[in-house]
Amino acid sequence: MRLLVTGGAGFIGSNFVRYVLAEHADCAVVNLDKLTYAGNLENLRDVEADPRYRFVRGDVAAPADVERAVQAAREAFGGLDAVVHFAAESHVDRSIEDPQVFVRTNVLGTQVLLDAARRHAVGRFLQVSTDEVYGSLGEGDAPWTEDSPPAPNSPYAASKAAADLLARACGRTYGLPVLITRCSNNYGPYQFPEKLIPLAVTNALAGEEVPVYGDGRHVRDWIHVEDHCRAVDLVLRRGRPGEVYNVGGENEARNIDVVRAVLRELGLPDEPGTPGCPIRFVADRPGHDRRYAMSSDRLRRELGWRRRWAFADGLRQTVRWYLDNRAWWERVRSGEHRAFRERTVGGR
Ligand code: NAD
Ligand code: DAU
Repeated sequence: MRLLVTGGAGFIGSNFVRYVLAEHADCAVVNLDKLTYAGNLENLRDVEADPRYRFVRGDVAAPADVERAVQAAREAFGGLDAVVHFAAESHVDRSIEDPQVFVRTNVLGTQVLLDAARRHAVGRFLQVSTDEVYGSLGEGDAPWTEDSPPAPNSPYAASKAAADLLARACGRTYGLPVLITRCSNNYGPYQFPEKLIPLAVTNALAGEEVPVYGDGRHVRDWIHVEDHCRAVDLVLRRGRPGEVYNVGGENEARNIDVVRAVLRELGLPDEPGTPGCPIRFVADRPGHDRRYAMSSDRLRRELGWRRRWAFADGLRQTVRWYLDNRAWWERVRSGEHRAFRERTVGGR
């Protein structure tokens, strides 16, 4: 399969590129990425010399850039079989600060890619989406299924829901074979340290406070990035066009318990308020979703997917990765990221 992967220099995209090249000898990848603050070619050092891999720097919302990536696939690999669309502005707190770039990249960017996929008669288009499009659950509510209606609460989630609907419409109206995956909270190597788990690890290692929003009892469903990548690959190859597939981690946990587990892994005091414990409760995120939970029955039943990483093992491996790759996160934590944290959480 010859793939156009967008956002392949980010967290999940880089894990996916590495995964498919290792898993399928006959797979070739063109990675189209704008290299925003979240994109980092260091994430793909180990595959950049692979003859089955090409990088194109460009913006998914710019039709000429997308066309260049398609031509790169044609020149290097003789054509393009599928698009796997990861590229997005992905951080909820940033979407609260400045929604417009989320609309441009996540909504317009998806439409530009859909148009290109149609023009070039691409065989599959996989839209990588999120459980956040479903909104927020209460403690006793049943998990979402693929039939649950979209009810997004943050500008990020609304932009992803809009992109899903445009992808669906493109399938219905023009017959493009569109597939949508909706995944829960990922963790693992190469995650940008603005997200809860790598933020907790790196702040604690740097001797800084770890901010926990509100009462810390918000629930997320954590999935190791490799389990997500395997699901995307399965849906890409064997999923039914026109369908949505939920990908849940089956690991619901409260934020405070996740942060405490990280601190225990690091051998630091984890009881809030005790000497040496870096946890600081801060003002809540506006519109903060209380709980996410999804049923992945369709993915299990139709495609035989099972998660392989138990949360305790995955968290240990992830913390180990950040301990072993200090230079990576020290570089990405400087500059723009630091300024953003100081403007937002620091000001709460
Ligand atoms: P990320 O922020 O780590 O990476 C995003 C990548 O997209 C970066 O490499 C960035 O440079 C690139 N990008 C941004 N704007 C672009 C543009 N206009 N043109 C081209 N490239 C651009 O994100 P992530 O956490 O790896 O998420 C990847 C995808 O998975 C997103 O679509 C996100 O909505 C979805 N998702 C993420 C999670 C999660 O927990 N992280 C869960 C479910 C779904
Ligand atoms: O559910 C999937 C989504 O997960 C993806 O679609 C998003 O791209 C991804 O960013 C993530 O969104 P969240 O908002 O759930 O992730 P984040 O890591 O930002 O926050 C996780 C939880 O931790 C959330 O309840 C907010 C809280 N939090 C977060 C940060 C950064 C804190 O308490 N303190 C923090 O400093």
